[in-house]
Amino acid sequence: MLSTKQIRQKYLDFFKEKRHAVIPSASLVPENDPTTLFTGSGMQPMLPYLLGQKHPLGTRVADAQKCFRSQDIEEVGDNRHTVFFEMLGNWSLGDYFKKEQIPWMWEFLTEVVRLNPKRLYITCFRGNDSLDIPKDIESAQLWQELFKKKGIEAKIADFPERDGLQGARIFYYDEKKNWWSRSGVPGAMPIGEPGGPDTEMFWDFGEKLGLHERSPFASRPCHVNCDCGRFMEIGNNVFMQYKKTTGGFQLLPQKNVDFGGGLERLAAAVNDDPDIFAIDVFVNMRHALVEISGRKYGHDEKDTYAFRVIMDHLRAATFLVGDNILPSNKDQGYFVRRLIRRAVRFAHHLEINDNFCRRLVEAVIQEYRDQYPELAARREEIGLAIHKEEEKFRKTLANGLKIFEEKTSRLAHGDTIPAEVAFDLYQSYGFPLEVTEELARERTLVLDSEGFLKLKQEHQEKSRAASGQKFAGGLADHGEMSTKYHTATHLLHAALRRVLGPHATQRGSNITPERMRFDFNNPAKMTPEQLKETEELVNAAIIRDYPVSWQEMPFEQAKEMGAVGLFEDKYQPIVKVYTVGDPKQKAAADPDGPTFSREVCGGPHVEHTGTMGHFKIIKEEAVSAGVRRIKAILE
Ligand code: SER
Repeated sequence: MLSTKQIRQKYLDFFKEKRHAVIPSASLVPENDPTTLFTGSGMQPMLPYLLGQKHPLGTRVADAQKCFRSQDIEEVGDNRHTVFFEMLGNWSLGDYFKKEQIPWMWEFLTEVVRLNPKRLYITCFRGNDSLDIPKDIESAQLWQELFKKKGIEAKIADFPERDGLQGARIFYYDEKKNWWSRSGVPGAMPIGEPGGPDTEMFWDFGEKLGLHERSPFASRPCHVNCDCGRFMEIGNNVFMQYKKTTGGFQLLPQKNVDFGGGLERLAAAVNDDPDIFAIDVFVNMRHALVEISGRKYGHDEKDTYAFRVIMDHLRAATFLVGDNILPSNKDQGYFVRRLIRRAVRFAHHLEINDNFCRRLVEAVIQEYRDQYPELAARREEIGLAIHKEEEKFRKTLANGLKIFEEKTSRLAHGDTIPAEVAFDLYQSYGFPLEVTEELARERTLVLDSEGFLKLKQEHQEKSRAASGQKFAGGLADHGEMSTKYHTATHLLHAALRRVLGPHATQRGSNITPERMRFDFNNPAKMTPEQLKETEELVNAAIIRDYPVSWQEMPFEQAKEMGAVGLFEDKYQPIVKVYTVGDPKQKAAADPDGPTFSREVCGGPHVEHTGTMGHFKIIKEEAVSAGVRRIKAILE
């Protein structure tokens, strides 16, 4: 049987053979994308190119991308949800379309991965008259012919949600299922957002498992998108050809293909086991947990649930810290904290009372070190950061226990613990309801779990509204302010290297319409003088009103011309280079000189620095050992 590693490699090789440029995974923290905290799909880093910007490596690109979906945290524990996953992706940037993509996918699934075609099912877009988007008959017919070549008569059917499988293999669904954009259905898409109909591939785990009969959906007919788990989506071909405008959907300047397939899901199909956690990438972690806890996986339901949460969360935390995100109270760091805390809480269920996270982190790094060298390179740092957070949280838990004792000391047998107390323990001390429940039982107290759930729901709604705002706010402004901040990161990068020395290279950046953040290497806190000098240099470059331009060139040439750039760029043969000032002169971060900065970058940038306003540093702080962060605004 193919290992997950082999599936990944075979996929990349397959598309390399089809003349795709295979690129390394981008970071889990999107560069210069204010619309979202994490990279949640393979297409996210490709967005500018899907919208028409020229990709330096051509019109065919493929990769395996690290993804993190924070919204799934509470779902983890069943047999298929994970917050972290790898997405295999291939893109046609105005190059090939349905007639190539569909037969390629078929070949990959049935010949390369050797999935049994009799167990494959397909969905296509039904079309929507009010959106003026037609039914995707072409895709359905392409699939039908491919099945036929294997001697399988694949009937096409409509309304599977109502009528079930109807002895068919190819089904039409509406935009809730077969339309893809970053924000979901057409109605939810902001103006300017690209999207399109898709065709998805499903693996059938078979009737014999009785998954449907035993599910809460047993009274309704089963169909491929049924939540019973009999069918699992293994890949999604998006025909990204529309853009939402105020006057409805318009065709993009180019017709794109955006394929995304969850690697772990594909491996689960090859494994023919609906439990994603049964695939090989989790084996080392599982063994470690069995050893530490003395419990088994797959026997007791609650234990199995805890195993899954711990494995998923610590794998995700390892990758996030590997991308420079440390546990903290805000933004991305908050999720790392939450993941580690949840893992420790579920370890409590397995009666693991000593620090154990570091050992699991080791297992993750061992598993992924070849594909993701950043993990091996930062092994010590990752292990330590997660270990420290675990230690801290164990103290918090102990404090929570004290609070519990205090708040309940005056209650008598049979009294009810107020919902607010349980919720405070949950929210501030990370107590899961079941821990509070256990404690309550021991003291013959009653828990108001309904009140607790109500408070929890209210809280979730509030935070959902907040993240929704972040999304909308970011996109609405994707133009001007973000572009200015993006250029400001280049000026700041150049200025820092001049003030601090050439070691002060970029480690990351993050931009919202309101501010920018810039992480860079520097062993010490910057002095007020250094900060002032940096700020003055950037402002002098703005006042000088340099032109900003770009050229494409081999990476080696960019290096010779003194372009600075991120470590990842070295994998790409041709890179885009932005120059602030004269593109023919050496860049010196000297506002009296002809050229201020040169950097490998995808853009976009302002055309002239004079439009940027006044640059002001708000804060300089530590991110981790040897890495500093500057927060700045343009006024
Ligand atoms: N964008 C699509 C998805 O995430 C395919 O890459 O499913």
